[in-house]
Amino acid sequence: MKKYDKKISIIVAIASNYAIGKDNDLLWHISKDLKRFKVLTEGHYIVMGKRTYFSLPKRPLPKRTSLIITDIQGEVIDNCLMAYSIEDAMNKMDSSKENFIIGGGSVYKQFMPLADKLYITRVHKDFDADTFFPKISLDEWKLISKVDVKDDDQNDFDYSFEEYIRIR
Ligand SMILES: NC(=O)c1ccc[n+]([C@@H]2O[C@H](COP(=O)([O-])OP(=O)(O)OC[C@H]3O[C@@H](n4cnc5c(N)ncnc54)[C@H](OP(=O)(O)O)[C@@H]3O)[C@@H](O)[C@H]2O)c1
Repeated sequence: MKKYDKKISIIVAIASNYAIGKDNDLLWHISKDLKRFKVLTEGHYIVMGKRTYFSLPKRPLPKRTSLIITDIQGEVIDNCLMAYSIEDAMNKMDSSKENFIIGGGSVYKQFMPLADKLYITRVHKDFDADTFFPKISLDEWKLISKVDVKDDDQNDFDYSFEEYIRIR
């Protein structure tokens, strides 16, 4: 794929075994993670596969521009931008600001080679799942920030907010 000048960030919550979803749903409910997601993505483009779009409880998410990827040429979803390939999505992204790839598994995998930054919520527990995130290689990514969060009674696991930048 040709080089683009768009700024691309992936935002995702990953279990210890790289699980991210099951039955087209998330594996956990972490209020602090949802708040962080909101703060980071508001005012930006959020880019997602059609399965993730239809898994959202409230859609499209307010105060963001949703760019939905589908193979079905010409399909339109109200109040969203549509893209019919990864290349088409790249062309339609915001040139002035960070674009957030928000899932799911198939879309993360395709955007990993194109992303500049990763916002990872690392859940310190294994989960049974049918959707996984690709391995994050430290040859390609540098950890620049990590904040550990202790279990806040909502869940039986701790988690960390991590940020990575691409080093090659
Ligand atoms: N843990 C997290 O942070 C997180 C975040 C988001 C999602 N998730 C989870 O991830 C799971 C969903 O992931 P998923 O992999 O099943 O689905 P997905 O990536 O959300 O969507 C897949 C769909 O996107 C479209 N698509 C993907 N690549 C395309 C391409 N190159 N060209 C055209 N269309 C393309 C296709 O839609 P059509 O079928 O219409 O062609 C495909 O069926 C759910 O369990 C969800 O809860 C987890």
